[in-house]
Order: sequence, then C-alpha cells, then structure tokens
Amino acid sequence: MDKKNVVVLGAGVIGLTTATLLLKQEKGVKVHIIASIFPNDPEALSNEYTSATAGAHWRGYEQNDPRQQEFEKSTYNYLWELANKNMSNVTGVMVIDEYNYWEKRPDDFGPWFRTVCHEFKELEKNELPDDIEFGIKYKSSGTTEHVKIEHLDECVRENTDILINCSGYGAKTLEGVKDINLYPVRGQSVIMQLSQSCLDWACFRHSYNGDYALETFIIPRENGEVMLGGTREKDNDSTEIEHSVAQKIIQRCFATRPDFLKDTKVQLTLKGHRVGLRPYRNGGIRVEAELRSTLYKSLKIVENQAKKLLFAIITVTQVLDIKQAMPLLN
Ligand SMILES: Cc1cc2nc3c(=O)[nH]c(=O)nc-3n(C[C@H](O)[C@H](O)[C@H](O)COP(=O)(O)OP(=O)(O)OC[C@H]3O[C@@H](n4cnc5c(N)ncnc54)[C@H](O)[C@@H]3O)c2cc1C
Ligand SMILES: *[C@@H]1O[C@H](CO)[C@@H](O)[C@H](O)[C@H]1NC(C)=O
Ligand SMILES: *[C@@H]1O[C@H](CO)[C@@H](O)[C@H](O)[C@H]1NC(C)=O
Ligand SMILES: *[C@@H]1O[C@H](CO)[C@@H](O)[C@H](O)[C@H]1NC(C)=O
Ligand SMILES: *[C@@H]1O[C@H](CO)[C@@H](O)[C@H](O)[C@H]1NC(C)=O
Repeated sequence: MDKKNVVVLGAGVIGLTTATLLLKQEKGVKVHIIASIFPNDPEALSNEYTSATAGAHWRGYEQNDPRQQEFEKSTYNYLWELANKNMSNVTGVMVIDEYNYWEKRPDDFGPWFRTVCHEFKELEKNELPDDIEFGIKYKSSGTTEHVKIEHLDECVRENTDILINCSGYGAKTLEGVKDINLYPVRGQSVIMQLSQSCLDWACFRHSYNGDYALETFIIPRENGEVMLGGTREKDNDSTEIEHSVAQKIIQRCFATRPDFLKDTKVQLTLKGHRVGLRPYRNGGIRVEAELRSTLYKSLKIVENQAKKLLFAIITVTQVLDIKQAMPLLN
C-alpha cells in the first residue's frame, strides 16, 4: 500500500505533537511539516508563535463542555505518561505538584477533573495562602519546511493526500482560512532563573474582582527557569511589554507564595519578559474533516480534481490527542 502523504501546517506544540503522534500511531503515513517558525528560531518569541510563551502546565478548565473535557483528559493522560518516563531532560515534561487557588469559593465547583488527576485533594484551611477561600492540589505536568505561506493551498503538493492545519492564531489572517472565530487573549509574563535546582511545584491563583480576569501563576521548567504570570486580556493583540504590569506580576506571585524564595533558598535572577497571544476560538477547538478542491493556481493540480484535505484544528489551550482525529483519516 502506498504511504499517505500528510502535510502538517504549523510547528507549534499542536503541529509538532500532531506530527509526532501520527508517525507513532500510523504506520502508513509520511509527514511533512510546513511552518514559518520552528521552536529554535529567534522569531519564536514573536506574535506568530504562541507556544514559546506558554506557561505550559496542565490545568483543568472550568467549562461545561464535555467535548473540551475529553481533550483535556486525554492530554493529561498523555503528558502523565511522558512525565513518568523520567526523560524531562529530553521532553521537558515532568511531574509537579499543582496548586490552584480561588479567592472566592466558586459556586457549583465539581470540579470535573477530580477523578482524572492523580492525588487530587481539596486543601485544608491551614494549607492556603492568605486571602484564599478555596484551593486544590493534584499531580500535574509541565510541558521541514521553513516558509511563510499566504494561502492555505500552498501547502498542497501534487502528492499530498491530507493537510492538517495547526496554524494557531495565524489562521486568522491566512488566505483560504481567515477563521473569523479566532480572537487573541493576550498574556504577559516574566521569566526568572533559579541559580540551582528546579522547583517541583506550580501554582495558579484565580483572583476574584467580579470575575476571574486576573490570574497569578508560578510554573517551573526542568532547566531551572520559572515563569511568573500573568495576564489574560481578551481581544488585545499588542505584543509590547508593559513594565509596570511585569512589576505587579512579580509582586502578586510573591504575595501568593511567600515561601517561594524561602523554599528555593537560592537567588532568582530576572531573565526576560514574554508576551503571547492565546489563539482562542468562538465555538471551541475545530477538529473536523473537510473535502476541498484546491484552487491555488501555481500548483500543477489537475483542474477540478478534488484533493482530500483533513483539517484537524486545534487552537485552544490544550493539546489534542491525535486519536480523536484518526477515524477521519480512513
Ligand atoms: C502567557 C501564556 C500562558 C499560557 N499557559 C498555558 C499553559 O500553562 N498550558 C496550556 O496548555 N496552554 C497555555 N497557553 C496557551 C498555549 O500557548 C497555546 O494554546 C498553544 O501554544 C497554541 O499552539 P499552536 O501550535 O496552536 O500555535 P503556535 O505555537 O502559535 O504555532 C503556530 C505555527 O503555525 C505556523 N504558521 C501560522 N501561520 C503560518 C503561515 N501563514 N505560513 C507558515 N506557517 C504559519 C507558525 O510559524 C507556527 O509554527 C498559554 C499562552 C500564553 C500566552
Ligand atoms: C521514574 O522515577 C520514579 C521516581 O524516582 C520511579 O519510581 C520510576 O520507576 C521511574 N520510572 C522509570 C520509567 O524509570
Ligand atoms: C536524559 O536522562 C536520562 C536518564 O537520566 C539519560 O539516560 C539520558 O542519557 C539523558 N539524555 C540526554 C540527551 O541528556
Ligand atoms: C486552520 O487552523 C486553524 C487553527 O489552527 C483553524 O481555526 C481554522 O479554522 C483552520 N482552517 C480550516 C480551513 O480548517
Ligand atoms: C493592550 O495591552 C497593552 C499592553 O498592556 C496596553 O498598553 C493597551 O492599552 C491594551 N489595549 C487595549 C485596547 O486594551
């Protein structure tokens, strides 16, 4: 049987994970990745590449969307498996203690992921930071062709059978896509470096000022970096660093976990600032197959010959388990 030629557009966490899992799970595929930016590029900190600005811990979203919950659940299990291989020096994914805090106890809070996460528990009053009404703790885990294309059809070559589109926020402006449901949710954060060792916990605080718009988080990396966050600014696509905001982020983090410096007993140095645009989408993650004819003129595609394109589209904040898309491939 001929191998299926699959093109993946995008080399963010979604595109790379999709490509890797495809190769692992499906014997009969060849994968070719097309992207303007790859992880090691200097431009990886630009607004066209969100993955390099992510905190990259697993967190259950408090949504009433069972479809999204299935994605999050399979992501948790996949990352858990990866973390337990003890190869964080290669994968960057490690097991951490995850603390989530709420200044006000949310009303109908299950949460749905109580039975998904390992060692889930509600925190006792004496385990909570000041001004926090409610908190939980569970085990979690932290985290070619180099070209910019103008039109989606440029990805389709004569031998392409399937195209998987993981272009993130880029899909908003990409011709042939122009997904009007995409919108940016700006996030600013601060990167610190620990002089020794690395942290084995992460925390996330939901601040209550009418809604939960303000967030505070501390997330470690295997290499001793720590990300302090953050902001969540809907419809703001500015990639300028706001230094007054960075100051407040640092203050909020230390106020939430005064034990942070004490715990690490070592010097923290400021390493840099990050701004990223989370690719949010009205209607949620788009994962669907679509049959299209490609019209892109410069490609020698026989006229009217329909090309089979799979658009597996993952734009929100969790990695998709490729198995969800697999039935579409047959
Ligand atoms: C401050 C912050 C904290 C976050 N924390 C977390 C967290 O803790 N946990 C979590 O799960 N998520 C988190 N996120 C969200 C997460 O970063 C994103 O959901 C994720 O990175 C999206 O990945 P992606 O692969 O879809 O897109 P991207 O990483 O943006 O990749 C897009 C790819 O498509 C390519 N591309 C796009 N358009 C074109 C084109 N026209 N031609 C060629 N190539 C193109 C780009 O070059 C790039 O390779 C956070 C985000 C921010 C900003
Ligand atoms: C990973 O490390 C943990 C803790 O040290 C150990 O219990 C486990 O067996 C290790 N797993 C592998 C696959 O080596
Ligand atoms: C990563 O760590 C493992 C286990 O400690 C070790 O066997 C392996 O050689 C390391 N790999 C790299 C690339 O450092
Ligand atoms: C391309 O992918 C993006 C996100 O990665 C998605 O929002 C968009 O709808 C996709 N376009 C098509 C035509 O599937
Ligand atoms: C977007 O964020 C920037 C940086 O924080 C800020 O200066 C600007 O006022 C914001 N724009 C809007 C429309 O809120």
